[in-house]
Amino acid sequence: MATRKLFSVLFLQFMFVVLLVLDPANAHKELKVGFYEKSCPEAEAIVKKVMVEILSKAPTLAAPLIRLHFHDCFVRGCDGSVLLDSSTKQAEKDFASNLSLRGFQIIDRVKSALEKACPGVVSCADILAIVARDAAATIKGPSWEVETGRKDGRVSSITEASDNLPPPYANITLLIRIFQGKGLSIKDLVVLSGAHTVGTSHCHSFDYRLYNFTGKLGTTDPKLDPNYIKRLKSKCNKLGDETTLAEMDPGSFKTFDASYYTLVAKRMGLFESDAALLNNTKTKSYVKLQAATGGSTFFDDFGVSMVNMGRIGVLTGKAGEIRKQCSKVNK
Ligand code: HEM
Ligand SMILES: *[C@@H]1O[C@H](CO)[C@@H](O)[C@H](O)[C@H]1NC(C)=O
Ligand SMILES: *[C@@H]1O[C@H](CO)[C@@H](O)[C@H](O)[C@H]1NC(C)=O
Ligand SMILES: *[C@@H]1O[C@H](CO)[C@@H](O)[C@H](O)[C@H]1NC(C)=O
Ligand SMILES: *[C@@H]1O[C@H](CO)[C@@H](O)[C@H](O)[C@H]1NC(C)=O
Repeated sequence: MATRKLFSVLFLQFMFVVLLVLDPANAHKELKVGFYEKSCPEAEAIVKKVMVEILSKAPTLAAPLIRLHFHDCFVRGCDGSVLLDSSTKQAEKDFASNLSLRGFQIIDRVKSALEKACPGVVSCADILAIVARDAAATIKGPSWEVETGRKDGRVSSITEASDNLPPPYANITLLIRIFQGKGLSIKDLVVLSGAHTVGTSHCHSFDYRLYNFTGKLGTTDPKLDPNYIKRLKSKCNKLGDETTLAEMDPGSFKTFDASYYTLVAKRMGLFESDAALLNNTKTKSYVKLQAATGGSTFFDDFGVSMVNMGRIGVLTGKAGEIRKQCSKVNK
């Protein structure tokens, strides 16, 4: 009798593990802080060292490095697919490429430092997660414990990028739908949008708000402060400029602080997706609270939400591979 009971307990435990391993929605449970503790003990220290070296000379690279992890995770999960090159320009990174991502050479530098120390051990997907944390921390932002153990995927598709990334003109309904579709909450949405406290945007990502809002030339977005429109127009002085960059958080675009929320509260969010955070009671009260308190909880919240984001659609265990070069799948 006792043995039978023991067997059924063991069997249930076995089934539990099988389900955990087979169910992709559970794969993130195999991630853990310090995954490389034994296989590559210096991994995180090596990344940190390269990051400090680079960012002390070029602090404006921190923003695009934070953004890379976001784009990686929202398209096919955090599997390093944003790093893959396509000879026919059909990869994730080729989506709106004139307006888009930067920092790939830095990921390559981090990867080669890691390959020297521990060949074939640290995935490119994990590098993106660690680099995003170190980028934020190095420019006076929050730090958090990064979960690792992701494997790299072998597919990267421009259509999947266009289908999964939120567009800058998204309204609150669409933003919530996209985030919830990735298993993220409304709170994650308003917290992660706070990453727009650093970095720059091409004029073309928001110029319709200044010149062509309703589809009729000369119309502006009423959700944007009129004085701010004037300032933005002097920077972005014509429609369709794909070269000029505007600071997303003027005055402190190189520092990770909470001033994004002050700007959004004053109707000075650069994108409609930023302004949209005032159009939902939950996101609006978060914006107002952080604006009023100089970001009382923003840094802690950001760490929590980045960990949540880092769990989207990960490959773990026997799934995926450890790429030798981040821009190419293994032969
Ligand atoms: C909520 C939906 C979001 C939308 C619609 C959005 C949209 C955009 C757009 C249009 C740009 C400017 C691209 C350009 O013209 O150069 C941008 C930049 C940026 N985004 Fe977002 N984003 C969103 C969420 C996020 C999240 C979740 C993160 C990170 C956690 C993030 C981090 C950044 C950073 C750091 C930049 C500046 C990049 C640079 O300086 O090169 N964004 N975003
Ligand atoms: C995008 O950039 C490429 C190379 O920098 C340039 O040749 C092309 O004209 C740009 N596309 C647009 C639509 O401006
Ligand atoms: C929000 O955007 C979606 C998709 O672009 C659109 O279908 C919907 O009508 C918009 N909702 C509101 C309230 O404007
Ligand atoms: C203005 O917006 C409308 C509607 O989105 C678009 O069809 C038109 O091409 C835009 N005009 C210019 C000059 O970009
Ligand atoms: C969102 O915008 C709509 C349309 O402008 C408005 O009727 C509604 O009250 C807004 N909701 C919130 C919570 O601000």
